[in-house]
Amino acid sequence: MTSQGQVLIFDTTLRDGEQAPGASMTGEQKLHVARLLDQMGVDIIEAGFPISSEGAFNAVHSIAREVRNSTVAALSRAVREDIDACVRALEPARRKRIHTFIATSPIHMRYKLQLSAEQVYERVIDSVTYARRFCDDVEWSCEDGTRSEPEFLYRCFEAAIKAGASTVNIADTVGFTTPEEFFDLITGIREQVPGMEKVRFSVHCHDDLGMAVANSLSAVRAGARQIECTINGVGERAGNASLEEVVMAMKVRAAAYGVRTNVKTEHLKQLSKAVSEYTGFVVPPNKAVVGANAFAHESGIHQHGVIMNRNTYEIIDPAEVGSGESSLVMGRHSGRHALQLKLRQYGVDLGGNAFEEVYRRFKLMADDRKAVSDGEILALVKTHAGLN
Ligand code: KIV
Ligand code: ZN
Repeated sequence: MTSQGQVLIFDTTLRDGEQAPGASMTGEQKLHVARLLDQMGVDIIEAGFPISSEGAFNAVHSIAREVRNSTVAALSRAVREDIDACVRALEPARRKRIHTFIATSPIHMRYKLQLSAEQVYERVIDSVTYARRFCDDVEWSCEDGTRSEPEFLYRCFEAAIKAGASTVNIADTVGFTTPEEFFDLITGIREQVPGMEKVRFSVHCHDDLGMAVANSLSAVRAGARQIECTINGVGERAGNASLEEVVMAMKVRAAAYGVRTNVKTEHLKQLSKAVSEYTGFVVPPNKAVVGANAFAHESGIHQHGVIMNRNTYEIIDPAEVGSGESSLVMGRHSGRHALQLKLRQYGVDLGGNAFEEVYRRFKLMADDRKAVSDGEILALVKTHAGLN
């Protein structure tokens, strides 16, 4: 299964994303995000953690009723009561998945779960076996997998597969791993765990060291064929791997990764805006793919390049991610080419001296502000170029 070139996108904006402090969304907002994700072609939407609250349960239930094409997943701990809540919440879904997890690292087992490794191992078998009674599509995740003993991980993965999991996921819960180390860990798991070739290998990366996207892509090189991610990278602490970044990296660098996804990327900007508005998390202007400056150029050299041929300074066509067209921001680094173009867009064609005077005035103005608006440029023309 892992040799196929299709990477499934598992969006967890509505579950892990919403767990970010201050990011909670209303049921209606979640439903709207789920509809957009469904239209965009996301393979799996993790709609929530039904046992955690009545609101979470209801959100999963209404998303399960509404979503047409994506599989709807619900999260549970390795506890039967949690799994029962998932079963009830997912009841109306056309395609459903129970996602059950347990921590496998020494620190989590000892201090958080207060269980021995053998008890955790038994819970893996019990939770997956129990979930399979209700659902053919069961995903098992090892929480804090990257800080777990590899030999113990191998045993747990094997047990989950034997118990009937069709997707197995390793979580870099605290964003601790590095691309090289993750590649080796995944290679080891794929080589050592019997039955791995029958299931889909998934990864779930957090961004504590700013490497969630790089780690996810490294995992794809090592044979992972599902990435768990969130819109705008929202999520616990520093967030999760950003969906728009992993998807566009695999699209733009298809030759390097040799994989594809089902995501219709022209929906990305719309989703980013919706999630930003609903969570209140502002997207930084320099954010890759969906930031306001992702396709904006201010410096004269770059503007000239883009005017001559967009590909000089853009590796993504903004229309491909639903961002319209690139823009030339007129500021202190801008040059004559951009000013000429801007004036021509407004039907203003200035001769040599008049243009030089407007350019000089524009530079003076740009020196003491961040950007000069089109209106201000047209006012300069009016005042200093002798036009009406
Ligand atoms: O980060 C994590 O470990 C998780 C699991 C529930 C997969 O979100
Ligand atoms: Zn997580």
